[in-house]
Amino acid sequence: MNFDDFSVLVRARRTNLMIDRSRDVEPTVVQQLCELSTWAPNHKLTWPWVFAEVRGESRLQLGSVCAEVMAAQGEPEPRITKTRGKFARTPVVLVVGSEVGDSDLRTAENRDAVAAAVQTLLLGATALGLASFWSSCPKGTNDAVTKFCGFPSDTTVVAMVYLGWPTDVPKGFERPAPRINRLT
Ligand SMILES: Cc1cc2nc3c(=O)[nH]c(=O)nc-3n(C[C@H](O)[C@H](O)[C@H](O)COP(=O)(O)O)c2cc1C
Repeated sequence: MNFDDFSVLVRARRTNLMIDRSRDVEPTVVQQLCELSTWAPNHKLTWPWVFAEVRGESRLQLGSVCAEVMAAQGEPEPRITKTRGKFARTPVVLVVGSEVGDSDLRTAENRDAVAAAVQTLLLGATALGLASFWSSCPKGTNDAVTKFCGFPSDTTVVAMVYLGWPTDVPKGFERPAPRINRLT
């Protein structure tokens, strides 16, 4: 692959929730994407990423788990109701967590590595023609989501990635020029 081809791929990736809910994404495809993501850089080779592939009824259970925490936090009812059903907007939600390190620095580096892994996964999804959407874990729900996903208890949820076949693709938009200090 040359730079121009790679550039086309990078620019084609969009945060996209226009997904065909009725069209499944094969588990082998999700497996392929998880494996690809592990080629991200990773200081000390800690392999900090953990994945949970959430499908079927489990998507609604995941929504309920988040909604219950939000209700306990006193969040507004419309937001709670939306959260309850939101993971059913796609056939697969891939929850990606980062394991704690043996120091604050390593924990931060682990999270950086997992973020790089998520971007790698999104680019892989784009190359396969899939729509993807990187969503944050709803505020305050990290521990409940971690438990639901079967991750170690001190895991940080870095991304909840919606994956599916697109019904449409949002338009791309230009990025501001990067700020580069050139020190010579
Ligand atoms: C760490 C992280 C968390 C994000 N969480 C959300 C989210 O919770 N909801 C959302 O709509 N988009 C979320 N996004 C996606 C961004 O909104 C999106 O990348 C941005 O609007 C640029 O659009 P693009 O990805 O199509 O270039 C998140 C992105 C990152 C990197």
